[in-house]
Amino acid sequence: MLIKSYNNQNLDLDLPSSLNLNNLLALPALIDPHVHFRVPGGEHKEDWKTGAQAAIHGGVTTVFDMPNNTPAITTAEALRNKKQIIDEQLSEVEIPLHYYFYFGATPDNLEEIKKVKDEIIGIKLFMGSSTGNLLVDKRSNQEQIFKLAAELNLVVAVHAEDEIKIKMQKEKFKDNDSIKVHGLIRDRSVAASAVAQAIEMAEFYKTKLYVLHASTKEEVDLIREAKAKGVNVSAETTPHHLFLDSEAYAVLGSKAQMNPPLRTPEDQRALWAGIADGTIDTIGTDHAPHTLEEKARAYPDSPSGVPGIETSLPLLLSAYNKGKLSLEKLVAVMSGNAQKIFELPETNDWVIVDLNLEKEVRNEDLKTKCGWSPFAGWKLKGWPVATVLNGKVYNF
Ligand code: DOR
Ligand code: ZN
Repeated sequence: MLIKSYNNQNLDLDLPSSLNLNNLLALPALIDPHVHFRVPGGEHKEDWKTGAQAAIHGGVTTVFDMPNNTPAITTAEALRNKKQIIDEQLSEVEIPLHYYFYFGATPDNLEEIKKVKDEIIGIKLFMGSSTGNLLVDKRSNQEQIFKLAAELNLVVAVHAEDEIKIKMQKEKFKDNDSIKVHGLIRDRSVAASAVAQAIEMAEFYKTKLYVLHASTKEEVDLIREAKAKGVNVSAETTPHHLFLDSEAYAVLGSKAQMNPPLRTPEDQRALWAGIADGTIDTIGTDHAPHTLEEKARAYPDSPSGVPGIETSLPLLLSAYNKGKLSLEKLVAVMSGNAQKIFELPETNDWVIVDLNLEKEVRNEDLKTKCGWSPFAGWKLKGWPVATVLNGKVYNF
């Protein structure tokens, strides 16, 4: 059956006749370069059966999974073990999702990095602490990792938050248990100072740097400047940082708690401007499910992280419908740029979208095991209706 693609080609795809193709458009399937599918150790939040279903439901056929598992993925053995579990779970649900691994850096696992260099998409470096126990906060250790990564031609993906500042501000706000202090502890300077440091190291060692979840105007400015100087840096932002700001705590409470935290409308404008001028390369969902029960704990015991893989495409299609970005740009930041930066093989995967479909985000419709979204109740215009993975159509 012929279907029109976003760049006006006619594609011949084997689609079910129940789809009314007149209103539909095919886009390259999404690459989500930042997910936490929680295997092993966090299977009560997500596993690869529910994670893969959620991915397909969101139009995503390729994911990069993060290493902050239990145990953390910092040895070749842990990586091998994780891969085996994933392959079993994916075959159980018959979804041959394309996946790649980030490998966790520690202060002393350089030898393990060398062992797995051909099996990973990059090294994940937590400059500041977040969910899990991965942390490399000493500059000298960070330098060793940047140096080795450059020698091995590996990307270093940074969770750029300054641990020293986080610790100081935790102390400062220790008597205040309001969720709003989350953004004061991990304030904008926490992120900006770590990004500046990561850029310095990438410049010095000529390392490929990928800044995860850029959230502030200062980070966008630093990355823009570094790119102009020829530093090999690319950057991601997330749907939650684009569409929610720190006012959301009042409505969502800890469902709006993540690292880095939500920022201001001015930061959001800077992120959109960064997308427009190419400073921001990708949108990664940082899909980081936690159960509602866990989220219901009082701050600071409530965990940081929100699910996002099923809502990112409708959010961006709604932004397209409001004129905030073109379809070409949407495809670039949600698929094409990640493919180029990480040199991924081409796929023939597609997501079929209805640009005019208006629908509310409903927790009941989600496939993620955690069963909730910070965007529940949002009415969005433009939704995926089917995903094509390796020639098989997943209709929903
Ligand atoms: O909010 C976050 N959640 N940020 C992270 O860095 C980790 C993630 C998680 O794994 O829950
Ligand atoms: Zn993350």
